[in-house]
Amino acid sequence: MSETITIALTKGRILRETLPLLAAAGIAPLEDIGKSRKLVFETTAEGVQLVVIRGTDVPTYVRHGAADVGVVGKDILLEQGAGGVYEPLDLGIARCRLMTAAPVGWQPSGPRIRVATKFVNVAREYFARQGVHAELIKLYGAMELAPMMDLADLIVDIVDTGNTLRANGMEPLDEIASISSRLIVNKAAMRSRYQGIQSLVDRLAVAVESA
Ligand code: PRP
Ligand code: MG
Repeated sequence: MSETITIALTKGRILRETLPLLAAAGIAPLEDIGKSRKLVFETTAEGVQLVVIRGTDVPTYVRHGAADVGVVGKDILLEQGAGGVYEPLDLGIARCRLMTAAPVGWQPSGPRIRVATKFVNVAREYFARQGVHAELIKLYGAMELAPMMDLADLIVDIVDTGNTLRANGMEPLDEIASISSRLIVNKAAMRSRYQGIQSLVDRLAVAVESA
């Protein structure tokens, strides 16, 4: 078996906030990830490589052992279910909240609520717990448009600054979960390459503490 440790990173804001933590743990890509169209990057650390993919794909790579370790938002872990991987470390980056939101002043007008979201599993569970009958409408982005176009009454989405909601005449209602990026580890890799991976987890934990 290869002794290389492959770390799957979520591109975008999470990647930008992960790189300083990796650098503090002694792992830096050999070229500028932001300026490259490549997907695989060698690093300054012997036997550690990075792959840069969509957050929704990170748990899949790690669950199957195609990557040993991953960095992914808790929102995606909640939505997909965190089965098959360990989640040893909260990296404390890319913090935001998973919330319900509605057009300003919205009031429910009947027993049935239409909810647009990419987080259908989280939303289904949340509204079931509230005893609310929700009809879920799966979208892949720009959820804020759905109430405006009368596709939905509410949305379930990530709220960071709240600017996107405000810009679209909406307001946050209830917090479903507080979100940050997590380190996940393939279970078999954790056993077969315990030393290498545990040392990575420990160095990242120190980096998080001093960030
Ligand atoms: C995310 C999220 C919100 C917004 C939250 O959208 O879905 O729309 O950012 O940030 P804010 O509270 O600081 O405005 P993103 O831009 O990633 O696009 P998408 O929803 O279309 O994927
Ligand atoms: Mg959005």
